[in-house]
Amino acid sequence: MAKVSNFVCQSCGGASSKWSGRCDNCGGWNTVIEESLAIPVSGSKGATLPKGRSIRLVGLKGESPTPPRIVTGIGELDRVAGGGFVPGSGVLIGGDPGIGKSTLLLQALAALARQGERVVYVSGEEAIAQVRLRAQRLGLDDSAVLLATETNVSDILATLNEATPTVAVIDSIQTIWSPMIEAAPGTVSQLKAGAEALIRFAKQKGTATLLVGHVTKDGQIAGPKVIEHMVDTVLYFEGDRGHQFRILRAVKNRFGPTDEIGVFEMSDGGLAEVTNPSRLFMGTGERAAPGTAVFAGVEGTRPLLIEVQALVAPSPLGTPRRTTVGWDSNRLAMILAVLEARAGITIGVNDVFLNVAGGLRVREPAADLAVAAALLSSLTGTVIPAGTAIFGEVALSGAIRPVSQTEARLKEAQKLGLRDAVIAAATDPAGFRGLRVKSMETIMDLVAWSASQERGQRRIA
Ligand code: TYD
Ligand code: MG
Repeated sequence: MAKVSNFVCQSCGGASSKWSGRCDNCGGWNTVIEESLAIPVSGSKGATLPKGRSIRLVGLKGESPTPPRIVTGIGELDRVAGGGFVPGSGVLIGGDPGIGKSTLLLQALAALARQGERVVYVSGEEAIAQVRLRAQRLGLDDSAVLLATETNVSDILATLNEATPTVAVIDSIQTIWSPMIEAAPGTVSQLKAGAEALIRFAKQKGTATLLVGHVTKDGQIAGPKVIEHMVDTVLYFEGDRGHQFRILRAVKNRFGPTDEIGVFEMSDGGLAEVTNPSRLFMGTGERAAPGTAVFAGVEGTRPLLIEVQALVAPSPLGTPRRTTVGWDSNRLAMILAVLEARAGITIGVNDVFLNVAGGLRVREPAADLAVAAALLSSLTGTVIPAGTAIFGEVALSGAIRPVSQTEARLKEAQKLGLRDAVIAAATDPAGFRGLRVKSMETIMDLVAWSASQERGQRRIA
């Protein structure tokens, strides 16, 4: 075995043969660290692989049992995982520190223990006493979850091999280190080695192994990105610390859909499921104000009504501000450009702030129309009538494009007591009768609609 030095970026995992202050791959500063690897060498001609055995090839069609699922009973978690965890799968649960990963997983394990499953929680971050304290706080202290605090992956594997639990949680993968690797815990090579060993164990013993990974923005420790490709399922736990609710999102799933979200609320007693999230994101529905629009979105299989707030105000600055929270700022720039070029609405000299209520992050282009409506409403000071759901994609040409799952969106709006909907003209709501539907072909139709509201409101005032 020979030692070979390798310089690895702790942020993106990019490797190079020499150190540099700035990673060539991702551009991060001070993220490159030297890691040594032990690699086999044989003679001067380079390493040769040992002779392999030939593997039996099979056809695509054949008997493959659908994997059974480990169902925790926490509906929001099970759905995002694709109907429960698959035995033997490796699952990464990433998220900012303090977002509630440990809390969620402890609750999930306790729920499984209640069903009589053998579950193990390995903490590399907290002492037993701390974990017990959290369990107490969650009212789970008499649960049969088996605990350990350990960071050495060999010891963890020996323990898990003996216990062979249904589900094991490793909290967190960044604290785990392998004695085979001469790098500090949390470095890319340690992260990879630890995850690889644990996933191999998962496959061998059929234990669903959940790895917690902290996401750090400064790249101080390697992010969970570097092990995403090794696991079967990647879930991210998101949320705004200033808000109570948290969103669990599947970004990769070999055993299920990847666009599902689960919504939770953090309370004194831990995370509670939110089964009707529209109520949460639609705002309180108090007095309607200019700049507020309700977007009928879809997250995964679930329709969701979300309040979009815009504020267009004269700017004291030479370069007006464009600030978005919960939405893509490039997309905002595009909507502003379309409003200006296709409808002659000049917002140029104003500051523009766009906020998605409740700290949710909206990624659907279907929100374009609601954003445009909110911008117009704030600019003109016209209130969008309360109880109007809006959705549709805005093209650069100014055309309003139909989006998927129109009926699901309309049904959700109706369920929550909305009366009107503004959608793309090409959409066929299949005879949907529940709402008064106003359909629009281009952004000009939206401007005309907004102006008609304005006239109506002036008459009333
Ligand atoms: P935690 O699960 O430790 O986060 P992570 O493992 O992602 O780092 O959650 C920590 C936060 O959650 C902490 O700020 C306290 C809060 N919390 C509650 O509000 N209620 C609770 O019942 C618990 C256990 C934690
Ligand atoms: Mg934690």
